[in-house]
Amino acid sequence: MVDDARSSAALAGKHLVLGVTGSIAVYKAVGVLRALRDQGATVSVVMTRGATKFMTPLTFDVLSGHRVVTDLFDAHAVMPHLTLAENADAVLVAPATANFLAKAALGLADDVLTTMLLNARCPVIVAPAMDGDMWTHPTVMQHVDMLRARGTVVLDPEVGPLASGRVAQGRLPAEAKVLEAVHAALRPQADWRGQRVLVSAGPTQEPIDPVRFLSNRSSGKMGYAIAAAVRARGGDVVLVTGPSALVPPPGVTTVHVTTAKEMAEALSQHFSSCTVLIMAAAVADFRPRVTVSEKLKKQGRSELELALEATPDILAMLSAKRTSQVVVGFAAETEQVLSHAKEKLKGKGLDLIVANDVTQPGGGFGSDDNAAVILSATGEQRVCGLMPKRRLADEILNAVRDLCLMAPRGVSIVE
Ligand code: CTP
Repeated sequence: MVDDARSSAALAGKHLVLGVTGSIAVYKAVGVLRALRDQGATVSVVMTRGATKFMTPLTFDVLSGHRVVTDLFDAHAVMPHLTLAENADAVLVAPATANFLAKAALGLADDVLTTMLLNARCPVIVAPAMDGDMWTHPTVMQHVDMLRARGTVVLDPEVGPLASGRVAQGRLPAEAKVLEAVHAALRPQADWRGQRVLVSAGPTQEPIDPVRFLSNRSSGKMGYAIAAAVRARGGDVVLVTGPSALVPPPGVTTVHVTTAKEMAEALSQHFSSCTVLIMAAAVADFRPRVTVSEKLKKQGRSELELALEATPDILAMLSAKRTSQVVVGFAAETEQVLSHAKEKLKGKGLDLIVANDVTQPGGGFGSDDNAAVILSATGEQRVCGLMPKRRLADEILNAVRDLCLMAPRGVSIVE
């Protein structure tokens, strides 16, 4: 990678949009631009109004070899927000201000850069630079989390002396780090090509009567993130999802179900044609023995007993039927996380289990982040600290790839 990044033609044929926003670090964007061009990329520069207060567009005009776009209504460029996004292999925003992060996170489009971002379907890399207290402000952190959850690569600023004279985390990441992130984003990741992955997600709902059901707090975010990660890495996905407010990722075959029974049927139907099953759904363990056809009336009752019966354990059932499939389960625990997870790994005959403590602050059901320990049947263990679910999805896929689809590699820590 280092050799690749240094090679003079490493970015030949790539077209990048460099967004420059109004930070004192604007002058460092000149070095980034030169390095991108030295590596063979063509670069279109978009400057916000704030950026032009620090440096004139002329510098970037000359060094990029293209006219800098500063205005959505530029007389020289027809609909620059569309043409720039369509032609870009990647968008790099360096330096990115707190104001830019907020607008990008919320989808505000009041200048050419933010408007273009809404049209961009290529990788987006953001290198923030700002004062330390701004970077650690909860609002900024929230915007960064929102962007990362959507797949935008947001680099961490570096610790060092800032324009204010203070030493804090806020410096634009070093040029080499910015370039490495661009290379990583452009490198096609196709390590899941050829895999057909069956992913389950979300809760199930078990009807009591026409208006009530038993369910759980699962949002579907983890399973949807896994489906998106498999697609991004070249695999095919069948996503079987219980009720969820989320929009399925593009390119994924989606089957919507409601009950555990329907989920079992849909998964059974697709299991034999898949190479990997990742069971992220929170399946109800019990359902009402009888679903009454009319709404239950409370009239005259001071209490109500509901008779429940066990649902099928879908994961155990499919694992027992497997031919060559890799089977991955989740363990949602509130105590003795690892020992309960190990019991499920063994008891359900799984290759891997993703154990998570659903009570941990900042993670668990409904959250955008999660922490987990991935355990394999062969005794390997990978610890993943609290991270966006989309990133955890990649770590799970890495573990399945390394420990099940290829030769085992042993213990590692991912923080
Ligand atoms: N699972 C399943 N069918 C069920 C219940 C669970 O396929 N009826 C799967 C889940 O999708 C998950 C794994 O089994 O991948 C473990 O689920 P979890 O809820 O953690 O544990 P349970 O097996 O249900 O056991 P318990 O509720 O006692 O912890």
